[in-house]
Amino acid sequence: MNNENDLLNVQISALDMIAKDILAIELKPIDGSFLPPYDSGSHLDVYIAPDLVRQYSICSKDLSQVVYRLGILRETNSRGGSKKIFEDFKLHQILKVSKPINKFHLDLSAKKSFLFAGGIGITPLLSMAYALDKNNADFELHYFCRSKNKLAFEDEIHQSRFANKTFIYIDDEPNGIKFDKKCLISGLETNKQIYLCGPSGFIDFVKDQAIECGYSANQIHTEYFNSNVIKTGASFNVVAQKTGINVDVLENQTIAQALKQVGVVIDLSCEQGVCGTCLTPVLEGIPDHRDMYQTDEEKNLNLFITPCCSRSLTERLVLNI
Ligand code: FES
Repeated sequence: MNNENDLLNVQISALDMIAKDILAIELKPIDGSFLPPYDSGSHLDVYIAPDLVRQYSICSKDLSQVVYRLGILRETNSRGGSKKIFEDFKLHQILKVSKPINKFHLDLSAKKSFLFAGGIGITPLLSMAYALDKNNADFELHYFCRSKNKLAFEDEIHQSRFANKTFIYIDDEPNGIKFDKKCLISGLETNKQIYLCGPSGFIDFVKDQAIECGYSANQIHTEYFNSNVIKTGASFNVVAQKTGINVDVLENQTIAQALKQVGVVIDLSCEQGVCGTCLTPVLEGIPDHRDMYQTDEEKNLNLFITPCCSRSLTERLVLNI
């Protein structure tokens, strides 16, 4: 959760439709100063409304502290976030955003990096491509898109210094280039890293290909944009330790929904187990982790749970909330 005092007041200084259903916005500080520094892979929590927060990766060209650039997809099944941005955001509008947060770190010392973007997943990877290029690092950018009209940042990529390291795959272009996992084989050597960002199906597909090519899990870094998480399951009891309130979580309810009914509100954003906003400490019981946010090692420790989607393997779960 962001502390109110840590939020930045920024103004929308540019707002452009750069592809079908994709909006690029630039945010500058309202007082003419510089924005906090960040590294590639970072995102901002954008406060679309007081209780509506969404994460968007910063995709500025040069780790700019003058403006933060974001790329935003209008989601077909938007739960309010992107829909409201497309309908309400205007040039010069003032917004609150968090300071940059990075949970998708780039290792600039890798021998070679492979960046795989699915659709709007290009945003953090574009920023990584600029960083790798600036460091004269060896890398390839593989960008997958459903159709050409949804290809964001196309001209910019073609004009960049890494155009010849970029491979663009368009699903509905039968004569376009096709992905061949052979490009990954060279990754069998150590210290080569793979970065994946996009929808869960895309990430799982590339991840499987990489593992078949001999990559280990710790060479593969992921940032999911959505997931097909199943949130339902057997009922159990949850105790909110700080307030002493306990509640039954019914089969078709999430922990967050059950707690909200008894007045315990947990901050939520993606509600799909991908962003980590709702991460809550566990004091007792064993979570049934359904999220994509924590690593397998973190899940095995059972120190935290994502109440937006995860459940319990024990009859009772005590949370430090
Ligand atoms: S709200 Fe995003 S992981 Fe729970």
